[in-house]
Amino acid sequence: MALIENDKMGLSSLRSERFDYVSREVVGHCLDVGCGKYNRFINHYLNRNGKGIDVFPYEGLTEENIIADITRFPFNAETFDSVTFIANVNHIPKSKRSIELSEAYRCLKPGGNIIVTMGNPLAEILTHKVVWLYDKWFGTDYDVDTQRGMHEEEEYYLRDSEITGLLTRAGFQGIEKKYFLTQWGLNHLFLGWKGGEKTTGKSRRKASSGIKAAR
Ligand SMILES: C[S@@+](CC[C@H](N)C(=O)[O-])C[C@H]1O[C@@H](n2cnc3c(N)ncnc32)[C@H](O)[C@@H]1O
Repeated sequence: MALIENDKMGLSSLRSERFDYVSREVVGHCLDVGCGKYNRFINHYLNRNGKGIDVFPYEGLTEENIIADITRFPFNAETFDSVTFIANVNHIPKSKRSIELSEAYRCLKPGGNIIVTMGNPLAEILTHKVVWLYDKWFGTDYDVDTQRGMHEEEEYYLRDSEITGLLTRAGFQGIEKKYFLTQWGLNHLFLGWKGGEKTTGKSRRKASSGIKAAR
């Protein structure tokens, strides 16, 4: 379990590594969709430079983090430089995925980016089963999906073509896939941009100054 959820004995967990890889792609003020317990990504990896939202009132979240209507994010258009969906897009009910990605697009500034992570199918199925079994045997509550109660339209993983299709239909451009090298290529992310000029080079360094992984 240490390897999946929490850092222990000098080892970084799969989740910490996932957050590390994603934080390197964030270009400024960030919206983390499906932030999970304690809003960890925004609070500990982006020095609170952003907002985390979720549909379930997990420990460590406040009213501000919970969105009742997932088809309308409570933010003005062009508010964020980056939007992240970390280990989350497959958990959005299938019929709502396009709407949420369009919301992400609306809330991004021109030149901002979206980052979506996904494990490979075998890794996703195994991880979900191992975590579920561990909780059952040891009485822990690592399995946030069971705690929330999985919706019938959630899935264990999405194929690359499904993710690129969703991103393209929402309007994102320049979509690329990047592997997490330290996870034997079993986990990866997709990057897409909202038209305009990419927030890269000088402007990216400026936008991300002050952002440092802080665990
Ligand atoms: C596997 S957890 C990932 C949590 C966190 N991003 C992380 O990497 O640790 C999936 C998250 O997606 C959230 N979720 C489920 N349905 C959602 C929806 N329709 N919109 C946004 N998030 C959703 C869940 O509540 C849960 O926090």
